[in-house]
Amino acid sequence: MLRRLHPVQPDSFAFTPANLEWAKGQISKYPEGRQASAIIPLLWRAQEQEGWLTRKAIETVADMLGMAYIRALEVATFYFMFQLQPVGSVAHVQICGTTSCMICGAEELIAVCKELIAKTPHTLSADGKFSWEEVECMGACANAPMAQIGKDYYEDLTAEKLRELIGRFSKGEVPVPGPQNGRYAAEPLSGLTTLKEFESGRKAHNASAQLAVDIGDTVKRIDGTEVPILTPWLGKTAKRAAKVSVEAEGAEAPAKKPRATKKKTEGEA
Ligand code: FES
Repeated sequence: MLRRLHPVQPDSFAFTPANLEWAKGQISKYPEGRQASAIIPLLWRAQEQEGWLTRKAIETVADMLGMAYIRALEVATFYFMFQLQPVGSVAHVQICGTTSCMICGAEELIAVCKELIAKTPHTLSADGKFSWEEVECMGACANAPMAQIGKDYYEDLTAEKLRELIGRFSKGEVPVPGPQNGRYAAEPLSGLTTLKEFESGRKAHNASAQLAVDIGDTVKRIDGTEVPILTPWLGKTAKRAAKVSVEAEGAEAPAKKPRATKKKTEGEA
């Protein structure tokens, strides 16, 4: 499939302040001269922020990493996870069309997308809210057929269920992701047959769906304020540098503080 930049492009791109801080943190993971290694996370964050990868975004990231534009373009056009054309303002719907999903009804889900969104993939719906595409296996085969909508997986779908989901997204709602047929995760629909003790103490949704509910990022454009920016490796580097300088001066290293035992939180194993 030929992947090219969209003919209509915005004039500029800038990371939000929090996303810029996050991007700088990612770049700091790599040694001097190897900053280009941060290309995929930075392009991905630009896409999370804008919904798709614009030419200006690709060039901005290339400038930040000291790369030739063509090198950044090679990465953006190679990986199908990068959207090179505008996507729906509410959500881009990715239907898995690989074996398990195809056998279990992916073609019916695609028919719904064609009817409710647009006849062809990568085309905006009439109201600009949605776009769709067929993708390869998303690794949720035990919950086939499935779709990724925004950042989340909606699994165990039927045509009717997908129709309902798109309708709810259109109204501004964000349906809880995960299995849509009552399953908790990927256990048999009739319930667990082994490791039944897992039933006790579990949260309302499986780990992935619970995270989506707790953070609420789902179909949101990511501006960097959703979760704290953590760069623990910077702390380690600073501590190591301080230790080296203390040893070089022949001074005594500060005594280690005894480590407190982590208190278990309720429900923790
Ligand atoms: S075949 Fe659809 S998730 Fe694997």
